Amino acid sequence: MKHTKVKELLNSASTLPEVNAKGWVRTFRNNQFIALNDGSTINNIQCVVDFENTSDEILKRITTGAAVSVVGALVESKGAGQKYEIQVSSLEILGDSDPEKFPMQPKKHSLEFLRENAHLRVRTNAFGAIMRIRSVLSFAVHSYFQEKGFVYVNTPIITGSDAEGAGEMFKVTALPFDNTPRTEDGSVNYKEDFFGKETNLTVSGQLEGETFAMALGQIYTFGPTFRAENSNTSRHLAEFWMIEPEVAFNDLNDNMDLAEDFIQYVIKYVLEKCPEDLKFLEGRLLEEEKSKPQAERSEMALLEKLDFVLKNNFKRVSYTEAIDILRNCTPNKKKKFNYIINEWGADLQSEHERYLVEKHFKCPVILFDYPANIKAFYMRLNDDTEPGKETVRAMDILFPGIGEIVGGSQREERFDVLVEKMKALNINEEELSWYLDTRRFGSAVHSGFGLGFERLVLFVTGMSNIRDVIPFPRTPGSAEF
Ligand code: 4AD
Ligand code: MG
Repeated sequence: MKHTKVKELLNSASTLPEVNAKGWVRTFRNNQFIALNDGSTINNIQCVVDFENTSDEILKRITTGAAVSVVGALVESKGAGQKYEIQVSSLEILGDSDPEKFPMQPKKHSLEFLRENAHLRVRTNAFGAIMRIRSVLSFAVHSYFQEKGFVYVNTPIITGSDAEGAGEMFKVTALPFDNTPRTEDGSVNYKEDFFGKETNLTVSGQLEGETFAMALGQIYTFGPTFRAENSNTSRHLAEFWMIEPEVAFNDLNDNMDLAEDFIQYVIKYVLEKCPEDLKFLEGRLLEEEKSKPQAERSEMALLEKLDFVLKNNFKRVSYTEAIDILRNCTPNKKKKFNYIINEWGADLQSEHERYLVEKHFKCPVILFDYPANIKAFYMRLNDDTEPGKETVRAMDILFPGIGEIVGGSQREERFDVLVEKMKALNINEEELSWYLDTRRFGSAVHSGFGLGFERLVLFVTGMSNIRDVIPFPRTPGSAEF
């Protein structure tokens, strides 16, 4: 007999004379009621064991975490909260789970403890829900771009370039650490390395993506990216997934429209497909926030917050306007910020971004036209820009509780201006000659952005630490599993 998923059993149109369910025991009460979960849904199916006709030896082995297979009739449940249950006629223990040793006992565990057990935390309600939502969200990403005719591009993971020019790269090498081949001046001789040159894990697929956009029109990437930045925060991972669309002939306004429409689409998608998981996480969040002082609690419950993002336009504000707001705001005047904003040109820290979104505008914000010298080399220099106060056509999308969720720009399409900029920043022209070919041959206005997938999952699930929305987080000092 083939087993049926718990989700299908719970949604069955009628009672059934005989079904088979397989899953893991969440709890076993009164020697009679198994709450069985198979991961297909947040809901467990209740399996009622005929304990009088089941040997003690078997009953003892029905423990939290054990894998079991039950056969029996699917009947209407007399208990509250579920439509159906299984009246068990035979039960097989597929895999025992020693209750003295199984770490995921049916009680509240700290998120820290669960992180240390990332291979087992997915057996809890919260992590089951998060990982199902993550999966649905990634499908929504593809669905959005595919419906719009974008081409999905797999950009390389091992690269020879630093797309962001920030130097936060993990080296990839096959050279030995002892007896490393050296050049005459004593530096490492990468000519003898696997690729015959220095290589690293990609920080972004943008530069390769641009070359494809300049042929296929609209493309997107969705893959892992790596940053060796020593940011031990609840928003940074050393390995994270990024979605990078790039569109020929789009200017910065088109880029903002695309980003806003895309984010609203994926949130709507997950609201439709994952109502039960979201409801569960909303409850979890309310519970968690009960222990916080009123001022620190979210103003909206999770579903209300997601709905708010769907129904309201993101507020578009220039960097210059934002600086004026920040310079004159109370926490800046009272020196409550760690970094005081004194003048135009300052880089915004996450405390400033969060002030703008959470306290000032109280909605998602798109900041645009940043000072050129705090942004990457490839961004389009504004035409009307003042010498000494140059701005670029950059945009960052800031979200409540998250801060920056998207970073993007219109690209510098003018060959001479781009080369000039690279010279000023000491970026090797030879190395990026292939990238410059997009500007040498048939250059045109184009734009794109990068959305940090885990920051999106954070927002949608209402979790507060990015380590809890990726299966096996990589952070400074930690690469378990
Ligand atoms: O702003 P970033 O660095 O932009 C780029 O990489 C561009 N090449 C994107 C483009 O225009 N195609 O990164 C983009 C987004 C950020 O807004 C953030 O959401 C996420 O990637 N991100 C991280 N997420 C988790 N951990 C980190 N260490 C992250 N660094 C960036
Ligand atoms: Mg950024």
